[in-house]
Amino acid sequence: MVTGGGGFLGSAVVRRLAEAGATEVFVPRSRDYDLRTGSGIAEALATGRPDLVIHLAAVVGGIGANRENPGRFFYENAIMGIELMEQARLAGVAKFVQIGTVCSYPKFTPVPFHEDDLWAGYPEETNAPYGLAKKMLLVQGQAYRQQYGFDVIYLIPVNLYGPGDNFDPASSHVIPALIKKCVDAREAGAGHIDVWGTGAASREFLYVEDAAEGIILGAERYDGAEPVNLGVGREITIRELVELIARLTRFEGEIRWDATKPDGQPRRALDTSRARERFGFSARTGFEDGLRETLAWYEGSLGA
Ligand SMILES: NC(=O)c1ccc[n+]([C@@H]2O[C@H](COP(=O)([O-])OP(=O)(O)OC[C@H]3O[C@@H](n4cnc5c(N)ncnc54)[C@H](OP(=O)(O)O)[C@@H]3O)[C@@H](O)[C@H]2O)c1
Repeated sequence: MVTGGGGFLGSAVVRRLAEAGATEVFVPRSRDYDLRTGSGIAEALATGRPDLVIHLAAVVGGIGANRENPGRFFYENAIMGIELMEQARLAGVAKFVQIGTVCSYPKFTPVPFHEDDLWAGYPEETNAPYGLAKKMLLVQGQAYRQQYGFDVIYLIPVNLYGPGDNFDPASSHVIPALIKKCVDAREAGAGHIDVWGTGAASREFLYVEDAAEGIILGAERYDGAEPVNLGVGREITIRELVELIARLTRFEGEIRWDATKPDGQPRRALDTSRARERFGFSARTGFEDGLRETLAWYEGSLGA
């Protein structure tokens, strides 16, 4: 059972599971099973009868969406995960893969972020409710392994991007937001774009297909209590990112920085050695290649 299997990352995971020969993959869509409710979860487990649960369902978004929905992002992400893990345990599920988030790391984690630093401080304020709700599921998974022997693993993907990403400006992450801005400006012949923050913050981005591969490798090969980062180990500043996306989208106007808007976490890049050592995962996709694929998908979706 792949919760959130109709979403951006979930679609890639479901596709790869099918390619790997999985014939019975159940995706409980939110319109049929509201996983914020105990009854929705019970029905999903009774219908899917899974051996393996990959829990990807979540409410997510960029800095703007996190700032507007701190209560909802905390409650829905916590309640879905807590209740699903509990009911999955009671239903005798053999393995549970919980997907965490890089937003759980402390605001000033030394770069590259190592899993042992997860508890070294409070997360960056704009995404703390989301990040902490998901971090509670790490505690729950470890407690359930200790008390009940339930095989819960916890994987932490860095920021994702790729074809199928969410391009709605109200909730999109930075890469789709910038691609849309540049393409819209180019099409309108606008002389400039406005970009949030100073450009000084750094981020790391993992191609969605690579993330899906990492999740499936972890599900197959990893049975440990310790959380594991999924990333590429390559940092880029937002300024460099905007310049790269402007070049790929052929937007030639001015880039105006709005420093009254937040940068979010100052730096983000992961130590990826644990995933390599424990289950042989290394990301394959070059950043510029991944961005070209994402842009091609987006421009194709505009014409569709
Ligand atoms: N995107 C990133 O950069 C990123 C980075 C690190 C970690 N993650 C994690 O990866 C996972 C997937 O993220 P994503 O970007 O693929 O998000 P997404 O496209 O928004 O997918 C999330 C899915 O969650 C499902 N969902 C939400 N509320 C639900 C509910 N009440 N009941 C049942 N299903 C519900 C939705 O299902 P329906 O489609 O059926 O409504 C949706 O497809 C999340 O756990 C997120 O925290 C994402």
